[in-house]
Amino acid sequence: MCSEKMNRVGLGVVFFLLCLSATFPRGFSAANQPPPKTKTAQTKKIVSSAVFPIDGNVYPLGYYSVSLNIGNPPKVFDLDIDSGSDLAWVQCDAPCTGCTKPRESLYKPHSNLLHCVDPLCSALHSHNKHPCKSPTEQCDYEIEYADHGSSLGVLVVDNFQLKLSNGSTLGPRLAFGCGYNQKYAGPGAPPPTAGVLGLGNGKASILSQLTQMGLTRNVVGHCLSSRGGGFLFFGDDFVPSSGVAWTPITHDSLDKHYTSGPAELYFGGKPAGVKGLEVIFDSGSSYTYFNSATYKAVINLVKTSLKGKPLKDAADDKSLPICWKGNQAFKSIQDAKNFFTPLALSFTNAKNVQLQLPPEAYLIVSKYGNACLGILNGAEVGLGNFNIIGDISLQEKMVIYDNEKRQIGWGPANCDRLPKS
Ligand SMILES: *[C@@H]1O[C@H](CO)[C@@H](O)[C@H](O)[C@H]1NC(C)=O
Repeated sequence: MCSEKMNRVGLGVVFFLLCLSATFPRGFSAANQPPPKTKTAQTKKIVSSAVFPIDGNVYPLGYYSVSLNIGNPPKVFDLDIDSGSDLAWVQCDAPCTGCTKPRESLYKPHSNLLHCVDPLCSALHSHNKHPCKSPTEQCDYEIEYADHGSSLGVLVVDNFQLKLSNGSTLGPRLAFGCGYNQKYAGPGAPPPTAGVLGLGNGKASILSQLTQMGLTRNVVGHCLSSRGGGFLFFGDDFVPSSGVAWTPITHDSLDKHYTSGPAELYFGGKPAGVKGLEVIFDSGSSYTYFNSATYKAVINLVKTSLKGKPLKDAADDKSLPICWKGNQAFKSIQDAKNFFTPLALSFTNAKNVQLQLPPEAYLIVSKYGNACLGILNGAEVGLGNFNIIGDISLQEKMVIYDNEKRQIGWGPANCDRLPKS
């Protein structure tokens, strides 16, 4: 019963840590460690791709995660995939608060700390000037997510096992966070994952590092199955050559989120009177969040469309803020979806590009058999005017974040089968 209420919002903001190096436990000195070698991207190199199966679901778990082999010898870590943040981190085997994994499945640093002079360290702290008094000082990080969960730790460098689509298995040395102070937001239990895999385009992300090494193109994508699981990929080998709707990425001011240009909301195929919505595609968020005005408009439209239908408010169901009861308990979304009207977002800076949001993309069936609205009011969780397209609305399609062409795409796909290049 761990996670009935686990709605996660992944958007991360990396903060500079004031007490540089004072917080990391002694004994993990970064001294004598050469900075990691990073090759600069060579245009002649043949780049490849990597695909990973993922686990998880929107409800009841509230997250999708990937198992990665990290270290030498490798150990398996389950990481929450989050296109709303950049940094990858795992729980650290060090004096640790908020580490929920047994000791043997924590990551143990072995004098492989990243130095603060490393460009990856300054990239992580680009919001503030990062004092680096001595070149061998460690690189601290602190990341806070939009749901007020956070991780604090130190950057390390280690091997990531990658099976590439050209048949090679490589173990590039990549920088990531070893987190020894985690806070979990929300009333639920902490997630059973060991950390987060940020899929953003910041310099310190795993994706950017792979691109910088010339191993994959700066493209990442996922396919979240509504039956649970799915896949994640780095590189562009699995991107279909047709059938994908693309819209340009417009970066928001704060961070390099995957934000689309303005969109107009449609309800039942007709304009709903809401325009100029900029939306962030965020696989780290379980549900979809709209700003207050849009949220209220959606509620009104849905409620009006339910008049005369055999659905009643289910105020006793606290799975989500708004739930409806049918004449009989719904067994699956298939039972409930015909009562509801499809939504869509129409992107105004791209011709005829729509993100369809059928009832399956905004409703869940709770464990009590009610249909609950998976669109939430962002203002109520401190998201201000941000609009977030979360896992619930990203299911059953391939979603591609193409940082080379600076565009987000989505298209039909079978998320239950790993793609072949
Ligand atoms: C596969 O691609 C990687 C990355 O470019 C390269 O290092 C490796 O040699 C390639 N392997 C084969 C068998 O071509």
